[in-house]
Amino acid sequence: MTLDFLGNLQRTHRCGELRVEQDGQDVVLMGWINRRRDHGNLIFLDLRDRTGITQVVSDIEVAGPAHAKAEAARSEFVVAVKGRVRKRGEGLENPNMATGQIEVVVKELLLLNEAKTPPFSPAEDAISNEEVRLKYRYLDLRREQMQKNFLTRHKVTRAIREYLSENGFLEIETPFMTRSTPEGARDYLVPSRVHPGDFYALPQSPQIFKQILMISGFDRYFQVARCFRDEDLRADRQPEFTQIDLEMTFPQQEMIFRVVEGFLTGAFKTADIELKAPFVQMTYDDAIRKYGIDKPDMRLPAMVDLTTLFTPELREALKIEQKLPVLGFSIPNAADLSGTQFKALANEVRTFLGESGLDFLDTQRLEKSEQFAPLGDLIAKELKNEYTDFLKTAARGSADDNLLAGVITPKLGTPEMWNYDRQWIYKKVGALRLHLAQKFADKHKLFQQTGTADDYKFLWVTDFPMYEWDEESKTWNAAHHPFTSPHEDDIKSGALFNDKGSVRALAYDIVLNGTELGSGSIRIHRQDVQAEIFRSLGMSDEEAKQRFGFFLDALEYGTPPHGGIALGLDRIVMILAGASSLREVIAFPKTAKAIDLMVDAPSPATEQQMKELHLKTVVRS
Ligand code: AMO
Repeated sequence: MTLDFLGNLQRTHRCGELRVEQDGQDVVLMGWINRRRDHGNLIFLDLRDRTGITQVVSDIEVAGPAHAKAEAARSEFVVAVKGRVRKRGEGLENPNMATGQIEVVVKELLLLNEAKTPPFSPAEDAISNEEVRLKYRYLDLRREQMQKNFLTRHKVTRAIREYLSENGFLEIETPFMTRSTPEGARDYLVPSRVHPGDFYALPQSPQIFKQILMISGFDRYFQVARCFRDEDLRADRQPEFTQIDLEMTFPQQEMIFRVVEGFLTGAFKTADIELKAPFVQMTYDDAIRKYGIDKPDMRLPAMVDLTTLFTPELREALKIEQKLPVLGFSIPNAADLSGTQFKALANEVRTFLGESGLDFLDTQRLEKSEQFAPLGDLIAKELKNEYTDFLKTAARGSADDNLLAGVITPKLGTPEMWNYDRQWIYKKVGALRLHLAQKFADKHKLFQQTGTADDYKFLWVTDFPMYEWDEESKTWNAAHHPFTSPHEDDIKSGALFNDKGSVRALAYDIVLNGTELGSGSIRIHRQDVQAEIFRSLGMSDEEAKQRFGFFLDALEYGTPPHGGIALGLDRIVMILAGASSLREVIAFPKTAKAIDLMVDAPSPATEQQMKELHLKTVVRS
């Protein structure tokens, strides 16, 4: 096939721009052929670029040479069209296209490049085989939805940059080749050629650098920062991802909240969504008690505590441990099930709860409680009215609701767990609540988007515990990172030294619809407190000096109180774009096995490279 040259031809419009106002104008469009329909003397080419699609008509009567090229053209060919805009005839308009009122009649057609038949059509919705999508990412990114996602990403990033710049934050870059930063994942390492046997670590976050920038007097810092973490991947985790990272001097927690609310409001405005700030706040303890999780999805009602309804006599009869709480929850609009369906569900719930010794039943079906005999029978007799009424009001159900509610009745055999982790019952029930919500989500349109701020339930979770007990290694770990300041009261009271489990951190998370968007804290700014925290985490003074000596030194040269936060940009865009995975909003993502299928990375280094880097592979699988 003979291809044409572009020469000095310039396009006059983008493919999504033309309207009836341009009727009669001569235009030049360039783009890809999205679809081609051949009616012999008339050939329709849908011409596509990032902005949209224009219908182009080639008529053999109007331009014979151009028509011959239109005959040769195929999907994904790159073409330039010189032609005249024409208002479409009555009944031929396409209301689903922004350019649906017009078409362009071809005078001249240039075939700028041909295309092999693609493994999938960019004109269609995503194919289900994601590996093929990722291998041919350049084709996948041509799809309208992907182009939209990256427009959203661009607008969000820009709005955040603008807001922070206007509010006194300076954008400063920090190194990629650095030392290990403790965010709880494994590091990606870069071997040094110049220093045999030494490695740089890619940053898990710019944490230490941003604190040093505060020590250096920059007052307010931000960065759209790439971070690298070698950890197990999930739909909302990638090995490299982007944070909106910020830090400020002399902050109160609330000042940081206002800044984040400000830039998120700006970001969501780009999608015509008016958020209402300030966002709701909840302590970590409340989040666990009411939702069983530290990142509650506020689109679903909270759990209800039914403990007081279970009198000592009843507990005795039901063999429920006296000390344990009894919890219930409801899934709105979610109980329209037949008896058989319900039986299957009850079995599934049992499997989900597994060995935990918890039990479950549906309050709407107490009459049919033979499914739960003998437990259900007993509850049905003793509690039915009181308890269903209570659930209905407390769990926000109404009389007309199809209310699916579970009561979780911890039985004997659990007190050990209870002593070990007071939160586990809440967490277990909370997890069941989410599991069922997800199960019913589609059928009952639980999370249906309305296109308004109501779709986005933001929440600040505050007062996180400072330490987490690791049963395996029998040590306390930092629940956030080791630069987080404990509550001043818990330092003053001595709890920091003698009751670690009770120490609260000045740490907070921002949560959106059950996803952790960001984490931050007020930092330790005193060298003595920082050294003590390292010690309390089981790090010897020597080890602390070796890993963070430069930082402990810096703390001694006039460090102001400071604090900050980092939000996952990819996660913000994912939720705003209505996507279910970060891979939909990262241009060149990795698979769950951390592979880039397009470029085929990671891949072996050459022998020469290995030699220069003083490396030898011992085992290759
Ligand atoms: P944290 O480790 O909680 O805090 O990370 C902050 C936010 O970054 C996002 N995030 C991720 N996104 C995609 N893939 C990942 N693998 C991934 N890991 C984290 C999440 C998370 O909430 N330096 C501290 C912040 C601070 O204290 O200022 C930090 O990095 O949205």
